[in-house]
Amino acid sequence: MPSVARRLSRWVRARPYDEHALVAADGASQQWCERRRVGLDRLAARLRLQHELSAAWGDGIRDSFSDLRFTDASRVPFPFVRALRERFSLCSVVTESRGAQLKDLDGNWTIDVGGSYGVNVAGFDRYKTWMARGLDRVKDVGPVLGPLHPIVADNIARLKRISQLDEVSFHMSGTEAVMAAVRVVRFNTRRKLIVCFSGAYHGWWDGVQPGLGSERVIDDCLTLQDMSPASLRVIRKRAREIAGVLVNPVQSFHPNSPPPNDAVLLTSDARKIQQSTERYGAWLDQLRETCTSCGVPLVFDEVYTGFRLAPGGAQEYFGVRADVVTYGKTVAGGMPIGVVCGRSALMRRIDPDRPMRMAYVVGTFSAHPVVMGAMNEFLRWLDDPSTAALYADGNARCTAWAQDVNQRMASGNLPVRVINLGTVWTLLFKEPSRFNWLFQYYLRAEGVTLSWVGTGRCLSSLAFTAEDYGALEDKLCAAAHEMKHDGWWLTVNEFPERDKRMRKLLIREIAGSLVPVPGSVHAFYRAVMQRKHDDHHASHNDRANQVLHVLSSSVFIYCYFSIFIDLTTAMCWGLGALFVRQFGHAILEPPCHDQEKLLLGYTTRDKTLIVCGYALVPLLDVALAGSWSLAGLVSLIDQIALHWFRWTVFVVALRVAYLTWKHDFRISMIWFVKLVSDPMTDLVSYVPALARRG
Ligand SMILES: Cc1ncc(COP(=O)(O)O)c(C=O)c1O
Repeated sequence: MPSVARRLSRWVRARPYDEHALVAADGASQQWCERRRVGLDRLAARLRLQHELSAAWGDGIRDSFSDLRFTDASRVPFPFVRALRERFSLCSVVTESRGAQLKDLDGNWTIDVGGSYGVNVAGFDRYKTWMARGLDRVKDVGPVLGPLHPIVADNIARLKRISQLDEVSFHMSGTEAVMAAVRVVRFNTRRKLIVCFSGAYHGWWDGVQPGLGSERVIDDCLTLQDMSPASLRVIRKRAREIAGVLVNPVQSFHPNSPPPNDAVLLTSDARKIQQSTERYGAWLDQLRETCTSCGVPLVFDEVYTGFRLAPGGAQEYFGVRADVVTYGKTVAGGMPIGVVCGRSALMRRIDPDRPMRMAYVVGTFSAHPVVMGAMNEFLRWLDDPSTAALYADGNARCTAWAQDVNQRMASGNLPVRVINLGTVWTLLFKEPSRFNWLFQYYLRAEGVTLSWVGTGRCLSSLAFTAEDYGALEDKLCAAAHEMKHDGWWLTVNEFPERDKRMRKLLIREIAGSLVPVPGSVHAFYRAVMQRKHDDHHASHNDRANQVLHVLSSSVFIYCYFSIFIDLTTAMCWGLGALFVRQFGHAILEPPCHDQEKLLLGYTTRDKTLIVCGYALVPLLDVALAGSWSLAGLVSLIDQIALHWFRWTVFVVALRVAYLTWKHDFRISMIWFVKLVSDPMTDLVSYVPALARRG
């Protein structure tokens, strides 16, 4: 599956929406689109006013800073990126942190729920102290690397106690810790394959990214499904090839649904979260048992969950022990870090029997004194007897807050819900909509800072006070209220065809982004469809008229094919259908003459003349042949049908020539394509509508 996604990703083309397409992405009516446009204008003006300096700062470095361009482009689903960037030139630039808050370049204080990608567990103020004290404790050695500072020994002892494993190694980031863990388990088991679970993130190394996000074909990483007995069977069957099973326990939150960032929010059901702590714990137990019974190391990637869910991380939270654990993020008290802890037999980097066989895993900045100093401060705090209670309290307060928010959202008829795992939380959207990603902009205007992954992965810290949670709740509800008011979340009552239209547009877009369609062809198609739409409103509202259109359209489609086999039969049926169609227009619905003129086609009056032309053909043929009898008429029918066909071609060609002369060739072709394709679109639009109305 991951490799299929990777292959498909090469075919998907950029199809940026313009502003019109953005507001109409779910096919809502003009009136809603207008309301959205006004809302977007107001939101953009508000954000511009609040973030003038930050935006200018961002604009000044965007072209030179690839990291910013990447995160900017990954904030919302890709069709919306360009239109959003034109509207909102956003950049988070901060100058100060305090409690749960951040101060930006414009002087606004906002509540931070980005959580510094997971680093901020304990609250910014604690980290500031640890970083300062850590630096102070090692300042006499400065940047000495190679020789170790004595503090390192204490860190190792504490990490061993927390992880309950034998050895420790230090690295510079979570990604690097994962790379090191994978490398040492491969080396020590002499096996190649690493098992990951779909949807799990393990850092940016492509060795554990067999799906989207990596271009390289990976044949030594096997992606299985979380919480599936079939995965356990695969592990048992292929145990002799598997060097390790790599688990990211924050996945307990969303087994196998797409990554949690807002760029995947093409529709509401793209994001699913499971509140399955117990079931996930049971799954980890089974995984542990399977790995033990078939001799495969179990590796927990606790870069995110370590020291977040509990002082002892996911091992403690779920009560399951791993053979190797990676840590990162918060463990160095605010400094950059990656840590691997493991059983001795799995941590060796030199083969004791074959000393030339080695896994060369080292790093210049490993065990950097300043990092070690800050880490020691953090680990001491962690060992303080009061800290476990802080975690329990922080997790419980976040859960209670999520319940409060959900109650308020439900009573305000707002389609947003919060779900949390400890102090990690995410937003779910309860009504189908294509605009959920826009919520991050409304939140920002209310003064909430999110990370670039948006509403999918938010974090509170243990330092969040009751006031912070209260203010955050108010901001979430205010933002949701405003977004609903601006028409981005329409109920079925407000937009009865919502789900069907959204699905149709989405399928069309996916197909369109796989098959390259030049912009001019797309614009041509839109022009044809717009005329069909206007035509429908002008003269196809009567139900009986719609029934006659379904009948005549079916006959026309039959004639399109049969004309190549039997011209006479096709023309006779076709003319019959034309009379039925004209009856519908001329008699059942008023002849919207003005509208027809605007639609460029023949008016009802012209059409009557054309019909007279068809009636004249048999009269002339019979008169010229002098055979004034039914038998004579029948004997001439092939000739009459041929003349009818020629008259049809003449009438159509005349209109094309006239429109080309009066307007241009493109306009004439728009009319022609509409004319020829009307039978198909009539069936597609009227049959389901008539069936629904019974
Ligand atoms: C589970 C997990 N592993 C690895 C990483 C990579 O860590 P880093 O960004 O420090 O390289 C992350 C980062 O979010 C993570 O969540």
